[in-house]
Amino acid sequence: MNELAGKHIVLGVTGGIAAYKAAELLRLLKKAGAVVDVVLTQGGAHFVTAVTFQALSGRPVWSDLWDARMADNMAHIDLSRQADAILVAPASADFLAKLAQGRADDLLTTLCLARPRKAVDGRECPLLVAPAMNRQMWEHPATRRNVALLAQDGTVLLGPACGEQACGEVGEGRMLEPEELLEDLLAYFQPRILAGRKLVLTAGPTFEAIDPVRGITNSSSGKMGYALARAAAQAGAEVVLVSGPVSLPAPRGVRRVDVTSALEMRAAVFAEMMDAVIFISVAAVADYRPAAASEHKIKKQGGDITLTLTPNPDILAEVASLPNGPFCVGFAAESRNLAEYAEGKRRAKRLPLVVGNLVQDGLGGDSNVVTLFDEVGSHPLPPGPKQEVARAIVAHIARMMG
Ligand code: PMT
Repeated sequence: MNELAGKHIVLGVTGGIAAYKAAELLRLLKKAGAVVDVVLTQGGAHFVTAVTFQALSGRPVWSDLWDARMADNMAHIDLSRQADAILVAPASADFLAKLAQGRADDLLTTLCLARPRKAVDGRECPLLVAPAMNRQMWEHPATRRNVALLAQDGTVLLGPACGEQACGEVGEGRMLEPEELLEDLLAYFQPRILAGRKLVLTAGPTFEAIDPVRGITNSSSGKMGYALARAAAQAGAEVVLVSGPVSLPAPRGVRRVDVTSALEMRAAVFAEMMDAVIFISVAAVADYRPAAASEHKIKKQGGDITLTLTPNPDILAEVASLPNGPFCVGFAAESRNLAEYAEGKRRAKRLPLVVGNLVQDGLGGDSNVVTLFDEVGSHPLPPGPKQEVARAIVAHIARMMG
């Protein structure tokens, strides 16, 4: 999915061993659809050459404040005016110090200083920096002062992470991984329409044990629920994802609680309900479970065997009936009569919103076709990748909640 299509990013690379990861970051930014101009400092060029960045970006690399290739000789102005964001990764301790003092003695510091700011131009070119340095340098009072000043000036700090460092020491100061930086940049471009709200969401199938090796489950992949969790986190919500057994990584910034059965899912949901203001039930919860799971593996025997099933609690219906409960969103997966069944479920469970989809459209794949059912009526959303559909659902929820 081209989530950065139409975006123009200036990627600043300063001198630090993490500069080698900037090449991977550039590749990811391009893959997401961005046009990327790389600005490489003298220090950065000690670690990775301009040729690497030129080959990966397909564009000239900029290093010199006096570069004659820019017709008006003003690379620092031209590059920052075209950019939707400047991302400096890695940002060395020296670079942060210069930035905090407003120094402008090379192309990168000059263009950071010259970037458009809302207070002056009404248009903002955000500056995001990913610090990378030895833990002692990161913890030094001088760096702490510089970082505080930068935050005050509106610079967005991404990381650093804690862990093993190139020098062999362990501590805070590692640059975030390229995938994490991409996620943070994508989140930065999303409107914070759910900021400050706690949202609990269920996703995936449940697995109801018959014996220690067998069980009843379904083919929900978890993709729709995980896409919604990611969209909600990018919209600023505090997201708890109660997940049935799936093989997906938790989206960045989302707290995942793993469960297996419907009863475990119910317990995990209610443990998080206290301060939740939104509950989205995407999980394909088994309606029935074996009345008694066998302690030992059931042996093959001649003829039929009978399995007695007992109903599972309806988690969504229980949450929706809580006094002062959260804003509840249900899903309805149908194989026919979508509008009738989805609206029927919305009314029966007294939900403000139900997202209806046909199993043949939504189960398992990467895209979905959904219709939203609320008090006003039905709202078909454009078909698309689950991530795009998820963003549209989040926008609808935010509008409904006001
Ligand atoms: O995971 P994917 O492969 O991406 O597929 C996505 C999906 C098709 C599973 C998803 O989009 C979807 O439709 N999820 C709801 C599936 C479902 O179980 O629908 P239902 O009509 O049986 O249940 C209605 C609602 O009640 C759902 O919100 C469900 O989570 C909830 N429910 C159902 C039974 C139960 N015991 N407890 C519940 O909370």
